[in-house]
Amino acid sequence: MNRYLQVWVLACNVLGAACSRGPEPSGNIQAAPAAATTAPLSTAPSPEQLERGRYLVSHVALCGDCHSPRLADGSFDPARWLSGVECFVDSNPGDPEQGCLNTRNLTAHPTGLLNRSDREIKDMFLKGERADGKALHPFMPYAFFGNMLESDADAIVAYLRTVPGVEHRIGPSQPPFLPPPAPVSRVPEALIPMPRADYPERAAALRGRYLAGNIGACLDCHTPRAQGRPALERAFQGGMSFRRELLGLPADYPELIYTANLTPHATGIADYAVADVVRALRHGEDKDGGSLCPPMPAGPMGPLGGITEADASDIGHYLLSLPPAENVIPVDCKPGRSALSRHGH
Ligand code: HEC
Ligand code: HEC
Repeated sequence: MNRYLQVWVLACNVLGAACSRGPEPSGNIQAAPAAATTAPLSTAPSPEQLERGRYLVSHVALCGDCHSPRLADGSFDPARWLSGVECFVDSNPGDPEQGCLNTRNLTAHPTGLLNRSDREIKDMFLKGERADGKALHPFMPYAFFGNMLESDADAIVAYLRTVPGVEHRIGPSQPPFLPPPAPVSRVPEALIPMPRADYPERAAALRGRYLAGNIGACLDCHTPRAQGRPALERAFQGGMSFRRELLGLPADYPELIYTANLTPHATGIADYAVADVVRALRHGEDKDGGSLCPPMPAGPMGPLGGITEADASDIGHYLLSLPPAENVIPVDCKPGRSALSRHGH
């Protein structure tokens, strides 16, 4: 499997326009198997739990990003929020029979998750297991989500139950995404690096570790791959790459866009203060005030733009508490700027 495809899944959501839409599903429709039971949450969710679920889905775990269709201007279509995207990844745009990976309808509709029990929904997004025993494709980052707290997983399910149902039956994906590969195992929680023992604001850094590592979106994109698997011994050291053409970027961008080294090393974010990380996430600006390149999902148009100041600050403490690791990012994505000039070498 081409490793660029892995990142394309993440990349595509940020740039809706770059994600080609495949053919509408034909008669060959993979109907969701009928649930044996539909077990609603035993206790009614509190407003706080629903808000937590909405916040995680929209701004931290980035579920909405991959699962929501966009309008022509790249913003989410509010009428189709979380209703799934056909051909979210197209690894073979020239061939209508090949290369499309679809995301799924997560809304409270029979063509979405309405007839799935809470347990079935959690098994899908935390373990990659479908009720029919088949695995989800690992482009769905269940190997990372599996480390979130049960209470957060429950909040996500509770929120999904409240998402207005959208009728949208999504057909099967195409080869090479079918049949789905064997399930991948959960990222071992112990491999998510701990804050340095002498870091002064350790409690904040530990909260940040949970948001950036256990919930998984930052860890997924900012960890390099080895043989297609996240190389967790180099967690947060950056260097995962995205092909410019798959991001739909103009030719003055380099051919490959790399994720940044988020450790406080000179080849990473040693020159950042916590407030700079907050600005990077909420406003999409790097240390020098330049716009961060796609597919970093930050800033006003990106879902991370809605992360709270407090959470962004905790993430900043966590990143700055990591052991500094050297990893030279080979190319700066900004047109006309070299990676070396950026890091002051
Ligand atoms: C990087 C993109 C991406 C992100 C982020 C993402 N998903 Fe998915 N999700 C997918 C893809 C692709 C599939 C389809 C996999 C397949 O068909 O094998 C999928 C499938 C699913 C399914 C299976 C539904 C069904 O009926 O088959 C569930 C449930 C799900 N995702 C929930 C979530 C939740 C909850 C989150 C956030 C916590 C999330 N996803 C975040 C890409 C993503
Ligand atoms: C879809 C992939 C993706 C996800 C998810 C993602 N990032 Fe990024 N991030 C990138 C890319 C690509 C860059 C490089 C952008 C650039 O160089 O302009 C980047 C750059 C950054 C930078 C700027 C570093 C520098 O060198 O100036 C920070 C800080 C950052 N990311 C933090 C995070 C955090 C924290 C999260 C999770 C909340 C996160 N990112 C999630 C892809 C991603």
